[in-house]
Amino acid sequence: MAREKKVTFQLLMAVGTAVIGSLQFGYNTGVINAPQKIIQSFYNETWFDRYDEPIPETALTSLWSLSVAIFSVGGIFGSFSVGLFVDRFGRRNSMLMVNVLAFVSAALMGFSKLAASWEMLIIGRFVVGLYSGLSTGFVPMYVGEVAPTSLRGALGTLHQLGIVIGILIAQVFGLDVIMGNATLWPFLLSFTFIPALLQCFLLPLCPESPRYLLLNCNEETKARSVLKKLRGTSDVSSDMQEMKEESRQMLTEKKVSILELFTSRVFRQPLIIAIVLQLSQQLSGINAVFYFSTSIFETAGVAQPVYATIGAGVVNTAFTVVSLFLVERAGRRSLHLIGLLGMALSAVLMTIAQALQVQVPWMSYMSIVAIFAFVAFFEIGPGPIPWFIVAELFSQGPRPSAIAVAGFCNWTANFIVGMCFQYVANICGAYVFIIFTVLLLGFFVFTYFKVPETKGRTFDEISAGFSQRPAAGIEKPPEEMNSLGADSEL
Ligand SMILES: *[C@@H]1O[C@H](CO)[C@@H](O)[C@H](O)[C@H]1NC(C)=O
Repeated sequence: MAREKKVTFQLLMAVGTAVIGSLQFGYNTGVINAPQKIIQSFYNETWFDRYDEPIPETALTSLWSLSVAIFSVGGIFGSFSVGLFVDRFGRRNSMLMVNVLAFVSAALMGFSKLAASWEMLIIGRFVVGLYSGLSTGFVPMYVGEVAPTSLRGALGTLHQLGIVIGILIAQVFGLDVIMGNATLWPFLLSFTFIPALLQCFLLPLCPESPRYLLLNCNEETKARSVLKKLRGTSDVSSDMQEMKEESRQMLTEKKVSILELFTSRVFRQPLIIAIVLQLSQQLSGINAVFYFSTSIFETAGVAQPVYATIGAGVVNTAFTVVSLFLVERAGRRSLHLIGLLGMALSAVLMTIAQALQVQVPWMSYMSIVAIFAFVAFFEIGPGPIPWFIVAELFSQGPRPSAIAVAGFCNWTANFIVGMCFQYVANICGAYVFIIFTVLLLGFFVFTYFKVPETKGRTFDEISAGFSQRPAAGIEKPPEEMNSLGADSEL
């Protein structure tokens, strides 16, 4: 039987090469954190050369916030364009093609200093955001389609792990002894071309997704031979059978467009839940930490803010691994509630630490503990759970549209946090985390009253909870988070 857990070299190679894309997303999320001061002084100098005056504080804040947040604008467009690529060019070739964006952005950001142009840096951030939005659609889809069913959950989590490791790498490279200094920061930003280059060499050696070959191209022989290599066995009939069965099931349920999703009463409640959960992930303030933690730590009086930032990256990675085991066992709803409450408490702790920082010197350590706890609780709940729940609330017909809407809300909220945090932090000072506390508690209340447990329940059971929803489910809920954000189409 092909169902046994056999990890072949071909499979490892395919998955390993694909998650370079996840790594890139993480890297570019974390990369502008540590060198904030240095790049800001580049903006200042450039401004001085152009206008013969130092940059006004407000202009600096605007330019920097834009440089950080425009990444998510690229992400919005990217995540919405996934559907334009995957069925036309195939999964593997789509991943290969979008590396062009990584090269373009690396060149723009890498030469921005030489060209004395912050515009190039900002456009580069947009382009790499575009790449990231596309990548976060392609990678889980490809991994889910090359992995055997029994390993799909385990291999799918490598996408998440790739992202957090990417963030961590970016933070380490951002140390001033490595690349986070006035001379080398352009290399830090353009480093993204090295993984892209690696992927360009490795992807042609990886197989196209057998599911794409069979269902989109009708190439049964090719699909079979790819499967044989991936599974390391000559009998792949059960895999083939499974894919055919899956496509047959998809035909029995009509595809639901995004417009229908919004207008139909049937989907109203699950859609609201999906959207609010995505907002709870981003408006929890997590990216305030990943984009700005070095400056947050500095404000909190931490002596070596960059090392504290790296610490946050380590905690993030460790707790992602913890949560990989937790989500298989505990209920989604409970994990989300625990995560939100934990983050809210950490945010309170952070506020207290910052407020007392002048009177009580050791409060800077408390800030570190608070941020670490904040990140840890994020990875337990609001990090992974919203994606699980979206996939589990919607059956095959509406799922691609629901995931596209969820992705859009996610990136938009990401943009809002990236764009506004620095302004709000300048105004509120130590009390900026109170805003996240209030939001987190709001999301906690919403989750407590509105979000059903989805783990291990069928669509019938879940929908019975939403009174107006007729029983529509004909299949079991997905056991794992495969092809998330993947089938998004306009
Ligand atoms: C910009 O640079 C000038 C001179 O080098 C300095 O006096 C000023 O404080 C800097 N402005 C900001 C906003 O950092």
